[in-house]
Amino acid sequence: MSNSPYTAEQADELVQTDEQYVMRPWTHPAGEPVIVAKAKGCVVTDVHGKDYLDLTAGYFVNNAGHCHPRIIEAATQQLHQVLQVSGKHGTVPAVRLAQRLVELLPKTIDQAFFSTGGSEANEFALKMARQATGKTDVAFLENGYHGLTLGSLEVTASEKYRESAGRPLSDHTFALPTAYCYRCPKRPETCATECLDGLEDRLAARPRTAAIIAEPIQAVGGLAPPQKWWDRVDAARRKHGALLILDEIQTGLGRTGKMFGLDHYGLEPEIVTGGKGLSGGVGSLAVTCAGKDVIAKFFGGTTPTSGGNAVSAAAGLAMIETLVDEGLVDNARRMGEHFTAGAWALGDPWIGDVRFTGLLGGIALVADRATKEVLNKKALAAVKDALHAEGMLITVSGLHGNVLRLQPPLSVTAAQIDTFLAALRKVLAAVRQSV
Ligand SMILES: Cc1ncc(COP(=O)(O)O)c(C=O)c1O
Repeated sequence: MSNSPYTAEQADELVQTDEQYVMRPWTHPAGEPVIVAKAKGCVVTDVHGKDYLDLTAGYFVNNAGHCHPRIIEAATQQLHQVLQVSGKHGTVPAVRLAQRLVELLPKTIDQAFFSTGGSEANEFALKMARQATGKTDVAFLENGYHGLTLGSLEVTASEKYRESAGRPLSDHTFALPTAYCYRCPKRPETCATECLDGLEDRLAARPRTAAIIAEPIQAVGGLAPPQKWWDRVDAARRKHGALLILDEIQTGLGRTGKMFGLDHYGLEPEIVTGGKGLSGGVGSLAVTCAGKDVIAKFFGGTTPTSGGNAVSAAAGLAMIETLVDEGLVDNARRMGEHFTAGAWALGDPWIGDVRFTGLLGGIALVADRATKEVLNKKALAAVKDALHAEGMLITVSGLHGNVLRLQPPLSVTAAQIDTFLAALRKVLAAVRQSV
């Protein structure tokens, strides 16, 4: 008996119809896209009835697990009350969600402004920073990712993505060095944040810098800077009168084993953005939160039209309460440790680095542990494809494209992680034999 509500013929037809009608402007690995028929917890089932362990959490959205009953209940109840009224007015769940977010964020944050997606929330953050400071420029970090719309691309580092927008992007943004400790020639014990030497000069050379935008921990590759790195960046940007915009779109809502990534460092930004799981997986919801000095100078408008949808807000609120009540933020911390210990215990020569902060990060594959040479593209693709065939839904990420990004729902169990690690052990050995 198949797990799928569809017959094999119906499933084939759905896959073909997807291929014919749905635009997918990227190259996808073998077996993708998966057309999901249903999902529960950490498992998704495709239209053919194949189960996958979802190590992407639906692209880092379903932090409490797919189709959590509490989220479904909250969304269903709200469906009978009111759906959408625009940002010009308000709904009870949007009011309560704004309140909850401000309560959870540092004391520098006073209010929330809802929009519909992460890229949009970041664009509003850039606009707020410019209005608040009267300055034009924004610094971002090398390897930083803040979205793919034209405005957010201005602060996304990847040349591949920047090129895709066509030239020119504006010259109002510039990159600062990120903390890539694994490939740093310094040892952590002797680190004096040398990667930041020159930071002050760069900021001084750009006196019109309104803000630095950054993730507290870079999701691309799972790069967590040391405390002293953040202390130095924070001090420098204050000295040069730049606001700090923290993008918590992926690091937020428990992903890193704390409610927000900034909680690891005690950072007090003037602006914080959020998205992804904020909607509880129901529709799309994002937010730009700010302190009162920034808010006082912010002129917006009554759009985005669909910002703060009541059903999404009710679901997002239910997700936050579920994370708290079920101890899922702490589970993320513990499961990140379990993942780290289990991955190193495989003793595989291709495992160069295991990088988890809570359940943000993954495993970096190298050809040689001593030289840290990146595993070649053919072997990486073979590993990805074989894991997929084993029923493991993952993405590959990182500055060098060699990090198996492993970010399941925060409700993942140790047994599920062990199932993944057993598959990884098998796959790495088999691919080594074959390439
Ligand atoms: C850190 C970060 N910022 C911004 C975005 C953009 O969000 P969206 O895809 O909702 O526009 C993402 C999405 O992956 C993200 O991970």
